[in-house]
Amino acid sequence: MAESIGERYMVESRYENMGDSAQSRGEPQPPLELPWEEDAELIVLPAPADIQLPDSSLRAMIEQRKTVRAYSDQALTLEELAWLLWSTQGVKAKTDRPVLSRTVPSAGARHPFETYLLVNKVESMQPGLYRYISTRHALLTVNTRGDIAEKIAHGCLDQKHVLRSAVTFLWDAVAARTVWRYDQRAYRYMHLDAGHVCQNLYLAAESIGCGVCAIAAFNDVLLNEAVQLDGTREFIIYAASLGKKVT
Ligand SMILES: Cc1cc2nc3c(=O)[nH]c(=O)nc-3n(C[C@H](O)[C@H](O)[C@H](O)COP(=O)(O)O)c2cc1C
Repeated sequence: MAESIGERYMVESRYENMGDSAQSRGEPQPPLELPWEEDAELIVLPAPADIQLPDSSLRAMIEQRKTVRAYSDQALTLEELAWLLWSTQGVKAKTDRPVLSRTVPSAGARHPFETYLLVNKVESMQPGLYRYISTRHALLTVNTRGDIAEKIAHGCLDQKHVLRSAVTFLWDAVAARTVWRYDQRAYRYMHLDAGHVCQNLYLAAESIGCGVCAIAAFNDVLLNEAVQLDGTREFIIYAASLGKKVT
């Protein structure tokens, strides 16, 4: 019989104070960010400090937040997209250890995620799949072939709001970054980290008149294939569609 979730929890909890991890064995820390082709042209995003935002209060954003699955046809501006990317995975500093400090918390500051973005409607951008190069606050073009949006939507069990979104965020967990320190327990921490990221997206979106739908109902195999991830060392852990609200 399949192990119950509670039993699994007990197994993992034995690792809470474990001494055996790649870090404790003296293995080097995995890179903080995935590499990209040196000569690739990056789309540089408006700097976080220059982004103009409508006046809003945190209280109102929290109160108004709700899941939105119907979006208007309006495109996002590059500035709005920059705000959303910075709010969810923006880099604030890099220490000498080296460790990144970001706009979201992460267990042990391991920050295991790379952000892939399905762009459907963003001003001045070709639709397609992009990766956020957070240390440069820029976007890397990954795939602008015609069927990429359909493939990603299909991976998300054909949930219609993916194709209707202005953008859909796809958070890729690079397991080694968290496993390096936390071994078995990393699996739990990466999911907790992902929740913080998506909640920031909900609130940041609210502040610019956008709505979000968190997505965890997806087919791992199809979605990982669409983004070209191996599904074990790296896998999509969470996703979210987003678009301008219908007024
Ligand atoms: C972990 C998680 C996974 C979710 N996955 C989906 C999903 O795949 N599709 C969907 O339409 N909504 C999804 N949702 C949105 C929930 O249905 C929604 O948050 C819930 O109904 C509460 O509504 P509210 O967000 O408006 O308060 C998900 C939410 C969470 C937190």
